[in-house]
Amino acid sequence: MKTKIIKIDPSNVCESSLIEAAEIIKNGGLVIFPTETVYGLGADGTSAEAATKIYFAKGRPSDNPLIIHIEDPRDASKFTYTNETYFRLAEKFMPGPLTVVLPAKDNVPKETRASLPTVAVRCPSNPIAKTLIRLSGVPIAAPSANLSGSPSPTKASHVIDDMDGRVDMIIDGGDSEFGLESTIVKVEDNGTLTLLRPGKVTVDDLLTVCPVVKIASAVTDQLAENEVVLSPGMKYRHYAPKSPVYLIEAEAEKAFNYIAERSASSYVAALCYEEDIELLKIKAPNVHIYKFGAENDELLQAHLLFDILRDADKHTFDEIYAPLPRKEGVGLALYNRMIRAAAYHIIRM
Ligand code: TXA
Ligand code: MG
Repeated sequence: MKTKIIKIDPSNVCESSLIEAAEIIKNGGLVIFPTETVYGLGADGTSAEAATKIYFAKGRPSDNPLIIHIEDPRDASKFTYTNETYFRLAEKFMPGPLTVVLPAKDNVPKETRASLPTVAVRCPSNPIAKTLIRLSGVPIAAPSANLSGSPSPTKASHVIDDMDGRVDMIIDGGDSEFGLESTIVKVEDNGTLTLLRPGKVTVDDLLTVCPVVKIASAVTDQLAENEVVLSPGMKYRHYAPKSPVYLIEAEAEKAFNYIAERSASSYVAALCYEEDIELLKIKAPNVHIYKFGAENDELLQAHLLFDILRDADKHTFDEIYAPLPRKEGVGLALYNRMIRAAAYHIIRM
């Protein structure tokens, strides 16, 4: 299929530039669009056929459900059984990088929700995404717009690498602002929350709305064999580059001595906080260094991570090292993605 690529400035969106994209969605086609988290691969969320096309284009297992994207948080009630907790979350965090799992109504095809009784809804803040949903007149089902198994795309070039020829249109809206996927919470019957995937909306943010936030064990820990997962996406191997990744928990000096030793006989890459780069260069001059923002700048780290992982796949590193993120605040989202990229390998010294 020939993919049309258009470029739109998210700070200056005029409706007429998105009419063709909206027509494609209405007619059951596939459009990749930017959001504030990562790029999404969108289709009509009310059409079983369109949802099936998404799975095919991504090479995604059909038992991994899609998020439906709406323009107005109140529209969730058309497709799900909303409750008070949902509306409190919506008031505080929507539009924005939060996805809420709620019981689905019958008008959401089982293909969109992979036959689950629930469906995930999200109301993005990116102006291109918002305008596209409004003009389409339907909720847009969209997973991240990567080929299944590679990191979510945060730049138009990532999308084009993975998806050119597989979709009708790609909207280039520049780099994703945040760079990791949305926070996902499930609202339980008793109104409490379970965190299924950490993101920019942190546990502390959620606690301001709901006094009980349970963190699903798969957020930080490896699943036991045959463990039942709360979110199907948790069971798939995710975000792992071809080269093995190791997360190091140690003072920079100690970590760099170890990396220097390894780099004597191996081709090594390291993600390195800005303030430590000079020291790493001195200790291990052969190492390929990825600048990873300042240690306390987790937003910049989130913004950079997937681009670094994609770039690493263009090299043939024997080993990749990165600092172990903390599990607080946005750090938990980094921890969750990086621990998977590292196949749970942590070196403590
Ligand atoms: O930031 C984001 O959320 C991006 C942008 C495009 O909106 N989307 C995204 O979609 O990351 P995807 O499909 O790559 O990840 C959605 C995750 C999957 O792991 C899926 O298993 C989970 O959400 N999910 C979807 N529906 C669910 C449901 N009803 N119950 C539990 N988990 C669900
Ligand atoms: Mg994804």
